[in-house]
Amino acid sequence: MARSGTVAVIGAGFYGSTTAQRLAEYDLFDTVVLTDIIEGRPEGLALDMNQSRPVEGFETRVVGQTTGRDGSGYAAIAGSEIVVITAGLPRKPGMSRMDLLEVNGRIVRQVAENVAEYAPDAVVIVVSNPLDEMTALTQLATGFPRHRVMGQAGMLDTARFTNFVAEELAVPVSSVRTLTLGSHGDTMVPVPSACTVDGAPLTDLLPAGKIEELITRTRNGGAEVVALLKTGSAYYAPSAAAARMVRAVHQDSGAVLPVCAWLEGEYGISNVYLGVTAELGRSGVNRVAEIPLTAGELAQLRQAAQAVAAKQADVRNL
Ligand code: APR
Repeated sequence: MARSGTVAVIGAGFYGSTTAQRLAEYDLFDTVVLTDIIEGRPEGLALDMNQSRPVEGFETRVVGQTTGRDGSGYAAIAGSEIVVITAGLPRKPGMSRMDLLEVNGRIVRQVAENVAEYAPDAVVIVVSNPLDEMTALTQLATGFPRHRVMGQAGMLDTARFTNFVAEELAVPVSSVRTLTLGSHGDTMVPVPSACTVDGAPLTDLLPAGKIEELITRTRNGGAEVVALLKTGSAYYAPSAAAARMVRAVHQDSGAVLPVCAWLEGEYGISNVYLGVTAELGRSGVNRVAEIPLTAGELAQLRQAAQAVAAKQADVRNL
């Protein structure tokens, strides 16, 4: 397939650098731009990644660029069709994602303003936490149409759930389909009615108590990794999820993926960024793809919407 275009990854920490690496290894873009405020870090990582090209066999070039809070260096992202925002602090053991709200709010607002100035046509994928709030803040600070700003959370939660189910049943992950909606946090909404193993309903294969146990582990999936790592949070599965979203946008694939998207009446919910399944394409979210939910699942989704809507309204003040 022909290579084309530029994708920018803002923040060259663990999440950003692994995302940049995955995107480069897809070999779909001309250029992956990686930026950070730590002098030399993105340039060093880009040099290192480019030197892996002969071994891994990809031609995409990685360009590293140190940026300043004043916007210096941001010219490097000009013309990016997609920007992934990973800038911000990760959790420490015992912290909730919401504990990062103020500090990451300041960082994400500053990044988003520069993205609006230097890559005004980009589709933006936000991964910084707390995810739902940082996605809403990015839309506000960029002023971009809402379909051009989305967040990564559902892909990751769903991947974690799928992995746990596959391990529990000792089947390949490729046999398992799971789904989580709602927020990236306490009000994550697992959708057992949409979960299957080789086409058979998960609810026929595992007792309700066991499914509940796996759901709880999924809901705490990030915290479990944070507790083990002691410093920093997960990045292999998160970067896989973010890169997959980037690919769907770049290829205008129309893939329906679980993402954090703006709702305008779907499921009877409006005016909030929330985890739902959505069709992705070149302009971002083409449409929210509503799926049939049980009454209980729908009630949980509406509850999640209420919980995050209030917090999203407050991001104006960050
Ligand atoms: N502009 C660009 N980069 C920034 C800025 C900024 N204004 N502020 C901080 N950064 C960079 C940091 O210098 C650091 O290199 O963001 C990077 C964050 O990297 P890590 O600390 O390794 O964190 P990471 O695991 O990558 O997580 C990033 O994703 O999952 C979420 O909760 C996590 O919000 C966190 C984000």
